[in-house]
Amino acid sequence: MAGVTDRPFRQLCKQLGAGMAVSEMVSSNSLLWGSEKTRRRANHEGETEPKSVQIAGADPMMMAEAARYNVDNGAQIIDINMGCPAKKVCNVMAGSALLQDEPLVARILNAVVKAVDVPVTLKIRTGWDRANKNGVAVARMAEDCGVQALAVHGRTRADAYQGEAEYDTIRAIKEAIRIPVIANGDIDTPEKAKHVLAASGADALMIGRAAQGRPWIFREIEHYLKTGTHLPEPPPSEIRTTLLGHLENLYQFYGTELGVRIARKHISWYSKGLVGGAVFRHAINQVETVTDQLGLIREFFDRHCDNTAERMVLAA
Ligand SMILES: Cc1cc2nc3c(=O)[nH]c(=O)nc-3n(C[C@H](O)[C@H](O)[C@H](O)COP(=O)(O)O)c2cc1C
Repeated sequence: MAGVTDRPFRQLCKQLGAGMAVSEMVSSNSLLWGSEKTRRRANHEGETEPKSVQIAGADPMMMAEAARYNVDNGAQIIDINMGCPAKKVCNVMAGSALLQDEPLVARILNAVVKAVDVPVTLKIRTGWDRANKNGVAVARMAEDCGVQALAVHGRTRADAYQGEAEYDTIRAIKEAIRIPVIANGDIDTPEKAKHVLAASGADALMIGRAAQGRPWIFREIEHYLKTGTHLPEPPPSEIRTTLLGHLENLYQFYGTELGVRIARKHISWYSKGLVGGAVFRHAINQVETVTDQLGLIREFFDRHCDNTAERMVLAA
């Protein structure tokens, strides 16, 4: 997810049970590669393997070049974005907008697969809009072009993020091809994970938004699928420890000034559902320094940890 799955977050998700985590998308426009933002996105130092980098664009030759560039910079898997409806991507006819032009899809896939000797994977939606769900056709094309795994978000491009993801089209895709299919969309609990696996017949699951502020969701799902039982919710003390570790890595990765700003959204996500969260988030968005940010977090979570201890004493 652009703006979310940077190296610190990917590494945290992997530590907490994710089998793979894909980078934020990197533009295929080489004019942008020198920018600080793109260089950061192409930074995989110390990351647990496999390192998968997503590229976005619409020109086959530029996409091939971008794939080579990222492999030279450590990518072990190249993922192609044909799933993102963001205007910035679709206006230049990339992301999920490409699903409208199947011959161009084939040219891009062929060019990228030929350009690199690492596996190439593809991320799509179920189609352009509900009247044009061409996911099965695109999936067959991907397999023919040598794509080695396919992730499918169970919405069309026109759906954006509205309504609910559906898994029937993912099942139809799974039944049409032999390469592994990864089901995606609205998976936010262990039960939903089990349901989506059964409904789609997919080989794996991909989780986006539900991991924001809850990176332990991967181990929760893994545990539930293996045992049919739930891991206990992490107590506030564990959430605090995870968040503080996450922030330390953000400050290191971005530098403290930018790190404090990038951290705000993550802190908001971690505090969702906790008593006093709204007031806390308002305060967090006002402070500019590491000391102030960490001070507010310690104060907020200490209060929750104390309350938990009190409740435990009362219950004993
Ligand atoms: C903030 C944000 C950024 C995203 N960026 C990308 C992206 O760069 N590439 C991509 O393939 N999908 C991107 N997505 C889509 C997600 O990968 C995923 O397909 C979608 O959110 C549905 O899954 P979920 O319900 O588990 O979040 C993004 C989604 C969000 C919310």
